[in-house]
Amino acid sequence: MSVPREKYLSSVWADGIFTNKVLFCTGGAGTICSMQVRAFVALGGNACIIGRNVEKTEKGAEDIATVRPGSKVIGIGGVDVREPKALQSAADRCAKELGGVDFAIAGAAGNFLAPISQLSANAFKTVMDIDALGSYNTAKAVLPYLVESAQKHKNTGSAQPTGTGGRLMFISATFHYKGQPLQAHVAAAKAAVDQISHSIAIEYGPYGVTSNIITPGPIANTEGVERLSKTDPESMKASMKRIPLGRYGEVKEIADATVYLFSEAGSYVNGNTLVVDGGQWRTAGASESAAWQYPDFLMSGAAVEGVKSGRRSKL
Ligand code: HXC
Repeated sequence: MSVPREKYLSSVWADGIFTNKVLFCTGGAGTICSMQVRAFVALGGNACIIGRNVEKTEKGAEDIATVRPGSKVIGIGGVDVREPKALQSAADRCAKELGGVDFAIAGAAGNFLAPISQLSANAFKTVMDIDALGSYNTAKAVLPYLVESAQKHKNTGSAQPTGTGGRLMFISATFHYKGQPLQAHVAAAKAAVDQISHSIAIEYGPYGVTSNIITPGPIANTEGVERLSKTDPESMKASMKRIPLGRYGEVKEIADATVYLFSEAGSYVNGNTLVVDGGQWRTAGASESAAWQYPDFLMSGAAVEGVKSGRRSKL
């Protein structure tokens, strides 16, 4: 399926910034990660995408490779991130066939809606294993390659002739920030993912490697939104009201954030979380009551009674 470039990448990035660089991405055939990889490949890089389903992963790789003639995108299927040996073999194969691993995204995740009363110990463990342990296994498999890359492409704060390298990224969620029912397993797992990234930032920063997190909010037309929310127009309208920017995000906006963190522009960002959610999680405390409903009350022009400091300005 050919995807127009403006659907996965803004026009602000310079072509060729990832030339001769290699990205290793778990969950790379998924709706969000495939666009992150697509953007990287469009800007000159090559990639290996890793997944459990062989056909989906191989087809996904073929599809991503169409964005740039001459690109190399390998789909390594049959790999479960819960198996460290399988992941290590995938990372070794990627490095052998493409010449190294300069960037990695731990994107594979498992999710379903369930209250604790219906969540068996095994169900909880399954998501912990895929999200938290799987992210840790991914990091362990690629870190030696990322250290090698960081040594070749020094992070000095000035432009390097060979560009950037040695960058790791995790994909998280906002459930553990804002409080979310039916997501005890995922909130716990993503909290662990966040801390894994922070610890890597501390322990591998001295080798020149950066580790950061992208936390997507609701992104339109993704598996996450389809699995986790109701997609009828009324429910979507209500859900968008809780997002200060009033809309769902686009996959392109996650890809752009990825390019920023991997590019020279993101060189001094380490141990950080970039939440790309239109401000959604910040409204967890917004009022649901009819009189104070967010954002209607703010936009109505009504003044709040009892404020002592003066009149309401126009905006
Ligand atoms: C309650 C459930 C369940 C459900 C499975 N289980 N689904 N419990 N409600 N809906 C329980 C099972 O009964 C079993 O426990 C245990 O979980 C393991 O289930 P399996 O099916 O054997 O596990 P497995 O085949 O490994 O599948 C893993 C999975 C599955 C997570 C359950 O959904 C999966 O493979 N998902 C991968 C794709 C995915 O989830 N993508 C979503 C990404 S979106 P018992 O006790 O019966 O043995 C995303 C959004 C982020 O992450 C949000 C950003 C905003």
